[in-house]
Amino acid sequence: MSLTLNTRVFGKKVYSYSKVESTNEIAYRLAEQGAEEGTVVIAIEQTKGKGRADHYWFSPSGGLWLSLILRPLMVSSSMSQLSLLGALGITTSIKRMFPLLSSGIRWPNDAVINGKKVGGVLCRAKNEQKKVVFVIMGIGVNVNIEEFSSPLCFTATSLKRETECYVPEEAFQHCLLEELERLYFSFLDDSSALLEEIRLFSSLLGKQIKVKISQEELTGLVQDIDEKGRLVLRLESGIQRRIGPEEGYISG
Ligand code: BTN
Repeated sequence: MSLTLNTRVFGKKVYSYSKVESTNEIAYRLAEQGAEEGTVVIAIEQTKGKGRADHYWFSPSGGLWLSLILRPLMVSSSMSQLSLLGALGITTSIKRMFPLLSSGIRWPNDAVINGKKVGGVLCRAKNEQKKVVFVIMGIGVNVNIEEFSSPLCFTATSLKRETECYVPEEAFQHCLLEELERLYFSFLDDSSALLEEIRLFSSLLGKQIKVKISQEELTGLVQDIDEKGRLVLRLESGIQRRIGPEEGYISG
């Protein structure tokens, strides 16, 4: 894997840190000051890494913790597809570097290998009058993390654990930025192409799952992911429900 970065925009400007609270926070501030699309903030370690639903994101050295500034010309309601795009980017990067690993997307924002989470995406947008001003796409990938303590050890994995080899972090970072750029511009051009790729890598299609939506838990068969990034679930009653990425999460 070459160490050159073959992108037009992504990663042309990089802010690198050894230890920060959260790369997402730094990127948000830079975007407010006008930083251009494709700017990356990266850190070796995060002390207050942020995960989805206000969860703490374990970010010791050995992982890839980066935030990407995007300035898509789109309405805020299309935002949810960007998390899926990020998860797809992690998955296709893993496929490119390790074709034998069976990586997939677990709706809405996880990259998984054999059911265990290897990476996740947290997008935060600044909107004005229903239009997106900028998006911070925060991406975390467990690249060379060797040990996870309980309860994370039951649900998380790393590329090193799966391949039993050290993974060159810079090479993986370049591969990820290349994949994200390819997917992002193709999505802005024609969002249906992205959907096809998401369906191809989705680890949930055709599976019976449980989804938690506030106090309610729904059980059903995953039929599809629709053009708005919603999970299409056929409930045991036969009724079809569409669930938006910000509405619920997979509980089993
Ligand atoms: C999730 O799956 O819950 C999302 C995890 C996102 C973690 C990344 S690491 C880089 C960026 N900075 C953060 O504080 N969070 C994201």
